Amino acid sequence: MNKDVEAGLRWDGRRVSGLDDILILHNAMPELDMSHIDVSCEFLGKHLKAPVLISSMTGGHPSTFEINKNLAIAAQNLGIGIGVGSQRAALEDPSLVSTYSVVREMAPDAFVYGNLGAAQLGKYGVDGVLKAVEMIDADAMAIHLNFLQEAIQPEGDTDARGVLKRIEEICSCGIPIIVKETGCGIKREEAIRIRDAGASAIDVAGFGGTSWAGVEWFRSENDTGKVFWEWGIPTAVSIVECGVGIPLIASGGIRSGIDCAKCIALGADVCALALPLLKRGFESAESAENYLREIIDQLRISMFLTGSMNIKELKKVDILITGPTREMLEERGHITGGFVKRRAER
Ligand SMILES: Cc1cc2nc3c(=O)[nH]c(=O)nc-3n(C[C@H](O)[C@H](O)[C@H](O)COP(=O)(O)O)c2cc1C
Repeated sequence: MNKDVEAGLRWDGRRVSGLDDILILHNAMPELDMSHIDVSCEFLGKHLKAPVLISSMTGGHPSTFEINKNLAIAAQNLGIGIGVGSQRAALEDPSLVSTYSVVREMAPDAFVYGNLGAAQLGKYGVDGVLKAVEMIDADAMAIHLNFLQEAIQPEGDTDARGVLKRIEEICSCGIPIIVKETGCGIKREEAIRIRDAGASAIDVAGFGGTSWAGVEWFRSENDTGKVFWEWGIPTAVSIVECGVGIPLIASGGIRSGIDCAKCIALGADVCALALPLLKRGFESAESAENYLREIIDQLRISMFLTGSMNIKELKKVDILITGPTREMLEERGHITGGFVKRRAER
């Protein structure tokens, strides 16, 4: 994986998450003591010391045991949340369970969430989801949508019929369900359908971070992946689109604490990061923890410089939206009189 992908840049070097179009207005007289700022929050019934999650990535191969162990230690020490990668591999081959269960072992107090693909729900059903929950003593399950990747992979699962119905079935199995994309974002119409199906939260996983089309392009011999690197709803736009009254995770190209602050000011409750943590998790628990600590410190500074004592106040700070992100939000009817409509409804 090259550095540009990690930086949330497209193949031509552009950052496309839309977060560069968001300006948080600086408060020159914040009237608070930075050391008193509270960055903690509640998320799906669990207390997080910061509104940060390590996004679903890995597990399922012996070499991933160490990465998940290191990431889990970082999550436990920082009091944040952590998701595991798709548990399909361990449902198929129980000898791989430890590469996932190590997360709960190392992070006994953290918000830990499991992961399965929506495309595979038909095969595994409610029983498979419950097995995945039990495997890591999960606080919630993420069900991922990755139809772009499925469509451009030669062996991909491209029958998307009945996905919402299956999500609805899973939502009644008694565990909070997070419906997440994997890099293409979610628009308002689907966010409403997901909410009405009974999901507890949405993770936008918007365009502008890790690109599965990009990954497929590196792997393949044709340019279809490169062409579809263009595809998706930018993270900043998707956050506003998904403001439908259930908890919201922002992800897709979040690479700093300022990005986290922007996402929360746009309407997210917590932020999730994936790719930058892969390399750090591979290095050591300390490396992952240091990186995340920096992100949280940058978030705290952003809060100080906007006069936000806590996350609730950060949600209300003044922002300016410019460029293509503004055009897209206007086109979709989210902006009236200079304000994002959905923020006013909160
Ligand atoms: C190496 C890697 C593996 C991933 N595996 C999964 C997965 O198994 N399930 C899933 O829902 N998302 C998966 N994702 C997507 C991430 O959870 C996240 O939604 C996406 O990468 C956007 O975040 P980022 O830009 O910070 O990487 C993976 C991402 C990476 C980088």
